[in-house]
Amino acid sequence: MWTIGYSGRDPFGEPTRAPLDPVRGLEKLAELGAYGVNFHDDDLVPFGSDDAERTKILDRFKQGLTDTGLVTTTVTTNLFSHPVFKDGGFTSNDRAVRRFALQKVMRNLDLAAELGAKVFVAWGGREGSETGGSKNVPAALDRYKEGFDLLGQYVVDNGYDLRFAIEPKPNEPRGDILLPTVGHALAFIETLERPELYGVNPEIGHEEMANLSAAAGFAQALWQGKLYHIDLNGQHGPKFDQDLRFGAGNVRGAFWVVDVLLAGGYDGPVHFDYKPARTDDDAGVWVSAAACMRNYLILREKVQAFRADPEVQEALEAARVPELSVPTLNEGETWQQLQAEAAPDLATLDALGARGMAFEHLDQLALEHLYGVRG
Ligand code: GCO
Ligand code: MN
Ligand code: MN
Repeated sequence: MWTIGYSGRDPFGEPTRAPLDPVRGLEKLAELGAYGVNFHDDDLVPFGSDDAERTKILDRFKQGLTDTGLVTTTVTTNLFSHPVFKDGGFTSNDRAVRRFALQKVMRNLDLAAELGAKVFVAWGGREGSETGGSKNVPAALDRYKEGFDLLGQYVVDNGYDLRFAIEPKPNEPRGDILLPTVGHALAFIETLERPELYGVNPEIGHEEMANLSAAAGFAQALWQGKLYHIDLNGQHGPKFDQDLRFGAGNVRGAFWVVDVLLAGGYDGPVHFDYKPARTDDDAGVWVSAAACMRNYLILREKVQAFRADPEVQEALEAARVPELSVPTLNEGETWQQLQAEAAPDLATLDALGARGMAFEHLDQLALEHLYGVRG
């Protein structure tokens, strides 16, 4: 809801579009063929609304869901807009703020469970600092852990069928954000009381802001059984968070992300987190929303054609890609046996070193599929 509802405000300029009525958003998304929606509490219910107002807004939204048949796949909490969160939610130096942040999330978890969402995204955009002395990072991580452990307990005690997906980002709005990459988040999760309740929600653009391969991050998350949710979008390298529609930005990177998702059997929601360009009007919002879905389907088709192409299979063989799936030691073989084996002589090593890996041909085939000149 915050993507299509983005009114174009940026740090330098006023909104360029009128606020979007959430129910109209549901109707337009249903028209475009979307499966579901995802929102922050504050996207629907303005911060500070009283209970009566909140109930009224939520009832209307629930009716909209029923009328359109859209599913709430995911819910997330806004712990970044109100000035109270200027130094973070779970990790603010100010203890009163931390206590309020947890209350806000618990209330939102109730709503998520009520709407049948299975994933609860946690993006800690304000959890961080601009200056070294202002944030005691180990203490902040203690508080981050304390917060997530409490929320895990809350979910278990209430019998909610919900899992958390932590969304990494290196910077923006804070100068340096805690849990800046997929790797940091995966390592942090292992310190929690119930690691099985927590996974990651990587965003393509955020990994690329850190100059990392998004596909590699998605692949490791899948390998660890931790890819609980995805934020697909576009980005042009390390700079401010562009949140371009999926398929714009680094197209090659997008191709490999889709390849990783298909190969790894990702079965969570295919979620787009982008911002329709500030330069477009309302019509452009819906063009860009449709384009995210269309670009995913286009890339999926291209990836499938690439993988099914017999020449690609030959190229994979030539590049010895299947050989990487063969364990390095034989079954039952020990390091003693390996050590006892005579190492290859220099001539053999030179010959191995001289053998080309044939990666260029393989990559050219991928590019040709992407460029649309094959299959
Ligand atoms: C960003 C982030 C956010 C979060 C979202 C969920 O672009 O920096 O993606 O959009 O995903 O706010 O809390
Ligand atoms: Mn982003
Ligand atoms: Mn995101």
